[in-house]
Amino acid sequence: MEKAILITGGAGFIGSHVVQLFVEKYPQYRIVNLDCLTYAGNLENLKAVEHAANYFFEKVDILDVPALEDVFQRHGITDVIHLAAESHVDRSISDPLAFVRTNVIGTVNLLNVAKAFWAEALAEHLFYHVSTDEVYGSLHDGGFFTETTPYDPQSPYSASKASSDHFVRAYANTYKMRTVISNCSNNYGPNQFPEKLIPLCIHNIKQGKPLPIYGKGENVRDWLYVVDHARAIDVVFHQGKTGETYNIGGFNEWQNIAIVRLLCQKMDEKLGQAPGTSEQLITFVKDRAGHDLRYAIDATKIQQELGWEPSLQFEEGISLTIDWYLANEEWLERVTSGAYQAYYEAHYMKGEA
Ligand code: NAD
Ligand code: TYD
Repeated sequence: MEKAILITGGAGFIGSHVVQLFVEKYPQYRIVNLDCLTYAGNLENLKAVEHAANYFFEKVDILDVPALEDVFQRHGITDVIHLAAESHVDRSISDPLAFVRTNVIGTVNLLNVAKAFWAEALAEHLFYHVSTDEVYGSLHDGGFFTETTPYDPQSPYSASKASSDHFVRAYANTYKMRTVISNCSNNYGPNQFPEKLIPLCIHNIKQGKPLPIYGKGENVRDWLYVVDHARAIDVVFHQGKTGETYNIGGFNEWQNIAIVRLLCQKMDEKLGQAPGTSEQLITFVKDRAGHDLRYAIDATKIQQELGWEPSLQFEEGISLTIDWYLANEEWLERVTSGAYQAYYEAHYMKGEA
């Protein structure tokens, strides 16, 4: 095979779309999905490719260095696309150390193992680190995040991601590893765990439960359809310049309350309910501690240098997303009940002692 790419966090929301794209588009690559299957990892996201000849799954924690070394050896890993992380801001507020462990120490473990394994030929291999726009902090006076905006992380989640970005750059500078980093805005789409705003609201509307809006709902996020993020990762992996950073965004800013109203309107239409039915579920709740006001990405660099741009308009993407959640009730039911966690045992441990 031409390459053996280790994709970490491939059972998660974004990772599953990246794995699927790479497995289907590049049959000449060996794609190794390494994931320890936390609550956010769900192998049911990968049913479409789980039997592909070039797809391999390794249930490994990035905190387990000997297990990482073993995976590099057995598969002859040539490149890494690193997505494994704790990803939810609210969880980072209640348990910051979990974010330090996976996002910081886990990333450094992976850098160390890759560096040692590629020792003789560091320049021939790529370590691609997938990160977030939240490392830049909160925008208050207009403007956009560019690749040169100073880091100013405000939550334990963004502090841990900022730290991991710094380590990747430090390894490039100190050990001359070939690295690239991308920082993306908020993703939405199929397979997203229903703790994040959009799937949470879709799920709650279906169940007639309150839609919790933090504060006044005036916070602004820039939303990108997850498949467009996966397409951008493909482009950065293959064409990105060594040592560079690329910001990825949807040119698509929305206040939270406006998104939730749009979801309510679309859900009423799709569920055949009277207009205004779902909006009655909107409930303003206590604000998130240290809630960043606005994120907005300037994605000019990736657009101009690598020719990437989003393929979907937001209303189209939201409609596809709602349709996916309505068509995959069983997925949602198994995720919310916890039954999805039995999938690994049922499908991967068969026949083992
Ligand atoms: P997710 O929470 O849906 O998935 C994370 C995956 O990582 C899960 O499959 C989980 O099992 C795995 N994982 C967690 N800890 C691990 C460990 N110690 N060892 C091995 N695997 C582990 O996250 P996501 O939303 O898909 O985000 C993926 C990456 O993209 C993260 O690095 C995140 O910071 C970044 N990102 C996310 C967004 C977004 O809007 N969701 C935006 C920009 C960047
Ligand atoms: P989230 O999906 O958690 O992503 P992030 O915090 O990484 O941007 O939240 C998106 C926005 O929605 C953010 O401003 C917080 C807000 N929010 C709510 O108002 N209510 C909720 O229940 C959740 C989960 C988020």
